Amino acid sequence: MTNGIFKQIEKELLGLSPERGLEWISDRFGKRAKLSTSFGVEDQLITDMIARLSLDIEIFTLDTGRLFQETYDVFDLTKNKYGLSIETYAPLTDALQKLIRTKGPNSFYESVENRKECCFIRKVEPLQRALKNTEVWITGLRAAQSANRSAMRILEWDEQYNLIKYNPILAWSEDEVNAYIHKHDVPVNSLHKKGYPSIGCGPCTRAVLPGEDPRAGRWWWESSSKECGLHAHQAVA
Ligand code: ADX
Ligand code: SF4
Repeated sequence: MTNGIFKQIEKELLGLSPERGLEWISDRFGKRAKLSTSFGVEDQLITDMIARLSLDIEIFTLDTGRLFQETYDVFDLTKNKYGLSIETYAPLTDALQKLIRTKGPNSFYESVENRKECCFIRKVEPLQRALKNTEVWITGLRAAQSANRSAMRILEWDEQYNLIKYNPILAWSEDEVNAYIHKHDVPVNSLHKKGYPSIGCGPCTRAVLPGEDPRAGRWWWESSSKECGLHAHQAVA
């Protein structure tokens, strides 16, 4: 895609609400537009929009094998409530077996390098497969989630995957998200009510205290960046 076409899409899309934007993307890109869902509240909201508006957009998840049971429960609930087929990408067996054989099942606690290795095998490599033949990657990222995310744009050109990244609810507040969820009776992960604003893998996520940074519970034993490599911040085209 040329810079000119990206700019044209940006012009068409930026004034639209998330619902109209998703419709526009679905009409133009169909299944070459994909939502990645971790079944967190933001992704649930976008999933509800896609299902309610009967959009063509594909929905996929990265099943790391270490998710909370509560996450699998809301996966099931969502699939059944909306009658959706949610594509699942798992880690490659050989890479996973080698990691566990050589470093054991909990190597992520030992060093940042080990943690990133586990995130690469369980999330990043499966994401690379999921994003093949994709022109638009849709996420539930919100700017208020972290300093890194506040620098993101609703529409970005993702250099790494060579596609458009669309973050339709980037500017939404937590209150706006909750109001939508309540209004449309969207199923949510029961962990959110137990102090987990951000939910990743079970061994790497803990609850946060009221007023604490919403991402403080992710890789809580590390002091550095609270990101796993799925969302390297990109410069806009
Ligand atoms: S993460 O990078 O720290 O793991 P976070 O949990 O905040 O991400 O979710 C941000 C966005 O990343 C979600 O809206 C979703 O699009 C995507 N994402 C995160 N984890 C997964 C997953 N396991 N499967 C699919 N998409 C995911
Ligand atoms: Fe591995 Fe933890 Fe990353 Fe999940 S969040 S992939 S368990 S290091």
